[in-house]
Amino acid sequence: MEVLNTQIQTLLARKEQALNLRQLKSINALQASEILINGNKLINFASNDYLGLSQHPLLKERAIKAIEQYGVGCPSSRLISGNLELYEQIESNIARLKGTQAALVFPTGFQTNLSVLQALSKLNAFFFCDKLCHNSILLGAQLSNKAFTRFAHNNIADLKRLLDKESNKNNWIVTESVFSMDGDIACIDNLRNLAKKTNCHLYIDEAHATGVFGKNGMGLVSNPEKTTVIMGTFGKGCGSFGAYIACSKPMRDFLVNYAAGFIYTTALPPAVLASIQAALEIIPQMVSQRQELLQTSARLRDEINQIGFNTGQSNSQIVSILLGDNELALSLSQYLEENKIYARAIRPPTVPENTARIRLSLSAIHSNLDIERLITVLRNWYAS
Ligand SMILES: Cc1ncc(COP(=O)(O)O)c(C=O)c1O
Repeated sequence: MEVLNTQIQTLLARKEQALNLRQLKSINALQASEILINGNKLINFASNDYLGLSQHPLLKERAIKAIEQYGVGCPSSRLISGNLELYEQIESNIARLKGTQAALVFPTGFQTNLSVLQALSKLNAFFFCDKLCHNSILLGAQLSNKAFTRFAHNNIADLKRLLDKESNKNNWIVTESVFSMDGDIACIDNLRNLAKKTNCHLYIDEAHATGVFGKNGMGLVSNPEKTTVIMGTFGKGCGSFGAYIACSKPMRDFLVNYAAGFIYTTALPPAVLASIQAALEIIPQMVSQRQELLQTSARLRDEINQIGFNTGQSNSQIVSILLGDNELALSLSQYLEENKIYARAIRPPTVPENTARIRLSLSAIHSNLDIERLITVLRNWYAS
């Protein structure tokens, strides 16, 4: 035990020295635009609840009704006795909204990426992942006996160069549509064209596009080619929890049989399923909220850039202030908190070396006053 503790302490000390130690903060209450920490109310710019749906009356009402009807848990896997009818309603809604033959709900986005990519490796897949893909994608690809490589971020020429070198028949291009940490957007049309030309399959993670982008708010990719697999989450823009795959019918059947993160896990609680279903009803109608959210994000980016900060290639509701240095990122995060604004410093390895940042995520329920306050505090820090 002593040896183990020493090993742990060595690793943690290394992280602390690099100003990289992760620590949990206790939260008393949470909303998309407000957070209560140690009894202090702060404006929350660190939530992925992009439409504020986690507090929406219809989601709450449906969740409560589902608890009354089914109970709080569904203590079995879907393949045993947990496949509540609610699952099938959600899946047919997702397939309709995404324009795919089928859909499959998973417990979490992390589990989805990990286990779907692992399952695809049983079909001799070789993965070409964007360098900035989420950890769950990279881990999933790594489970494929190293049949993966990474292309320079959003760089079609680099992807093409790598594809030209690979003669494998089942090549998969893997990307996020809206990147979680940089808030920039993948060149989806170019990727679709390249995939077609090179006979590749596409795997697109829409975790941060869901709720915010697309005609019906369900992301940037719809009516995809049959060889495309789309992944999305319900725990961010949908305000609930869980994730889905939208795909062809044969792919769905394959995943039900081969995706370990689907097979060997307990079904989602009924309240979660009912709130997802409510979110899917509301989101297509929230056109003006989406437009306003993206306009506010553009205005915030402009203001932040005018102060002198660098927001990189952000083109969405995720606006990162790139600082490069861990100490600087921590110091700005602390200053914001002292001034009643909550936004976390994001450091390597979550983001690449020397790109420590403050990640700001906007929600449709932030007020103009919230945004003005953020800009004023950032201006004061920059000037100090
Ligand atoms: C791009 C991306 N994919 C997947 C996930 C994982 O989703 P979940 O939180 O539902 O596990 C995240 C979560 O942060 C993400 O940012």
